[in-house]
Amino acid sequence: MPDQAPATQIAVSKNNPCPFLRALVANGYVDGHIVPLGTLTEDIGLASGKTGMGLIRAKVLTYGIAMIANGHPLRSVTSGAILDELRNGPLDKHGAGSRILDVDGQVNLEQIERFASFGQEYRNPDGGTEPGLNAKQIETFMADNLKRDGDKARWTYPIMMKGEWPVLLDILGKGEGETRYLSVADVRTLFVERKLPKRITDRLPAPAG
Ligand code: HEM
Repeated sequence: MPDQAPATQIAVSKNNPCPFLRALVANGYVDGHIVPLGTLTEDIGLASGKTGMGLIRAKVLTYGIAMIANGHPLRSVTSGAILDELRNGPLDKHGAGSRILDVDGQVNLEQIERFASFGQEYRNPDGGTEPGLNAKQIETFMADNLKRDGDKARWTYPIMMKGEWPVLLDILGKGEGETRYLSVADVRTLFVERKLPKRITDRLPAPAG
């Protein structure tokens, strides 16, 4: 589909396949190339809105993921994560994910429709209802992604996937408990426009430049 991201955005490499990091890069919150692990951990910690032990857990998880993401943990610790070299790295599941983003960084809208098909209508705390997926529905969606990949799926993928959609639900989700859901509209905006909702960016320091 044609790129619908605002023209004022910073271009993001097709070799950055993470929708969350793509939004941070596109809007100037982190550099698109090398980001020190401390900066990445700090920003994702702030975006999570967590405090206390929750914040510590989020930071440790982010640090761990970012450390291994380029396949050179020592280099990542000393100089930072290379966000435009994530594709084909240890976290790249090669099609066992949602397939919303293709290898050229283009969005497949029909894959967003497929994502939505695993969900239902939820009561939006801001008023009305909207389609979304709760934790259980996200699990079903991820299991189906693995099934779709067939024999190519590796045993590490289910572990890696726990740090993706469930964390996105944790950060971006609306509502509480069993009815906490990831809004399909928010997911579409994240992938297509590379934008995080204002309630999340309000937690971050103003972008550089
Ligand atoms: C709170 C922080 C983060 C969130 C919410 C998040 C969320 C996600 C989501 C939802 C996906 C999409 C998977 C799919 O399409 O099925 C993804 C993919 C990915 N993320 Fe992140 N991510 C976060 C942090 C990171 C960090 C710190 C790194 C590494 C530096 C990273 C690297 C990747 C990579 C390489 C993929 C592609 C995996 C694949 O091939 O499916 N992410 N992430």
